[in-house]
Amino acid sequence: MNYQTALMMGEKKLNEKNTKNSRLDSEILLSSTLRIQREEMMLTLNNYISKKELNYFIKLINRRREKEPVAYIVGHKEFWKNKFKVNNSVLIPRPETEHLVEEALKFIPKYRSINILDIGTGSGCIILSILNERKKSYGVALDISKKALKLAKFNAKIQQIKNRIKFVNSDIDKFCLGKYDIILSNPPYIKNSDIRYLEKDINFYEPKIALRGGFDGYSVINNIIDKSKVLMKKKGKLFLEVGYNQSEHVSRRLIKKGFYINKIVKDLSKNNRCIVSTKI
Ligand SMILES: C[S@@+](CC[C@H](N)C(=O)[O-])C[C@H]1O[C@@H](n2cnc3c(N)ncnc32)[C@H](O)[C@@H]1O
Repeated sequence: MNYQTALMMGEKKLNEKNTKNSRLDSEILLSSTLRIQREEMMLTLNNYISKKELNYFIKLINRRREKEPVAYIVGHKEFWKNKFKVNNSVLIPRPETEHLVEEALKFIPKYRSINILDIGTGSGCIILSILNERKKSYGVALDISKKALKLAKFNAKIQQIKNRIKFVNSDIDKFCLGKYDIILSNPPYIKNSDIRYLEKDINFYEPKIALRGGFDGYSVINNIIDKSKVLMKKKGKLFLEVGYNQSEHVSRRLIKKGFYINKIVKDLSKNNRCIVSTKI
């Protein structure tokens, strides 16, 4: 069987289970099986796949048929300008979170050292992307999950920025170390009672600690705002990702707690998703 036929077979098997991006998923899983870049594979579709490779590819397709996310199956996800190792201890980095990185970079000088705190770092995708772009700055990556921090540390090591970052295992509620120019967070913000309505890909596979935002979805966000007030230098900036319908509520709380709202950035679906504010 050649690559082309294998790809079509994978796509068909995924379609039988109503998988959304069946063709793309089949391509990613086949290139992962063959250990070559997808682009290279697409140029060599007439090559033959070995029996061993085919069996392995079918195993991966079957995992995807059970709705396991592709990123967990292949073990990595592209975010900003890098590839991040992921497993089911961390949320899979989402494209909308890149707004946080993009906005924060506008306020972080290239040639001055500043201190940055990332609350709920997960794979480390936000803080590592920023430190990669700003070589003079230092970061603290905080997470309540030890397993997530282990992965974030690994990502820091392979991206060779482990000397400018500290990892702290703590609940944000109990954290009180340092003063920061910039605080960033993509916190858990889904109502606990809504989690069971999420797609199986998310609900069955991604860590609940990364999703559960308490009974109303705001419990971690509120703690982050309260703690940022204490942890941030005057005129420091807070960059928060929120759920598609949470920006008004969160903005009101920020203003009440003494922040000025600089900007609210929309995602590709035109929902307000990233709030930029300043401690006044
Ligand atoms: C939505 S995920 C974001 C992960 C990563 N920053 C990203 O954008 O892909 C939220 C992260 O916050 C962590 N977390 C949840 N509650 C926390 C708390 N109270 N204090 C610190 N971290 C927390 C979770 O373990 C998870 O890694």
